[in-house]
Amino acid sequence: MSDEPGRGPADVDAYINAQLVGEDTVLAAALARAAAAGLPAHDVAPNQGKLLHLLARIAGARTILELGTLAGYSALAVAFALPPGGGLVACDVSADWTAIARRYWTEAGVADRIDLRLGPATATLAALAAEGAGPFDLVFLDADKQRNPEYLEWALRLTAPGSVIVADNVVRAGGLADAASEDPRTLGVRRFTELLGAAANVTATAVQTVGQKGWDGFVLALVEDAG
Ligand SMILES: C[S@@+](CC[C@H](N)C(=O)[O-])C[C@H]1O[C@@H](n2cnc3c(N)ncnc32)[C@H](O)[C@@H]1O
Repeated sequence: MSDEPGRGPADVDAYINAQLVGEDTVLAAALARAAAAGLPAHDVAPNQGKLLHLLARIAGARTILELGTLAGYSALAVAFALPPGGGLVACDVSADWTAIARRYWTEAGVADRIDLRLGPATATLAALAAEGAGPFDLVFLDADKQRNPEYLEWALRLTAPGSVIVADNVVRAGGLADAASEDPRTLGVRRFTELLGAAANVTATAVQTVGQKGWDGFVLALVEDAG
């Protein structure tokens, strides 16, 4: 990896965003507003948001479930991918941060497609199952990573063959490969990865990324027929 000025991972992200993502979209404005409001910069990078958008469209997703919404950036990216009549259930514990999300979902004209559920994801997942919600075509796991193993179990209950599961921040600067790690989030993504590998009805991979968010990566999984 180069340290030369103009050739580092963040420079490449800036180039990709300028060429392929667009800097003056409503998404860029949303990010700027979240930063101005002092939110932690834990939203996906613009090119990663575009990846989620593309995955949703490639999968033909009509129903999407997101765990971990923050100020609504990734939710906005996938909401733009929904066809008419499609819907996104977005879940977060923070009323303050998601209040920002609600404002620009409304401005972007997608608020009517987004069902925001406030509260711990485990409670929302249980409620969705009790309501008979789903199957979701795309599930994006981006909440508290220590609970990813539990979220995987719910995701598999709330999806069907052909559904796609994406999980962010699984590489954690190499933590994923560190068997001695005692960090709860690293333990969470390691157990999650092992469960995925052992699941009979899931085909999955994980991809490392570098960029403005540092060294991290995501899991991409396809739910298959159990038989
Ligand atoms: C990485 S941020 C999500 C970023 C967002 N997906 C994006 O890219 O724009 C993680 C979010 O998970 C939320 N969170 C943490 N623990 C949670 C829990 N137990 N249930 C639901 N949300 C949780 C946090 O409040 C935070 O907003």
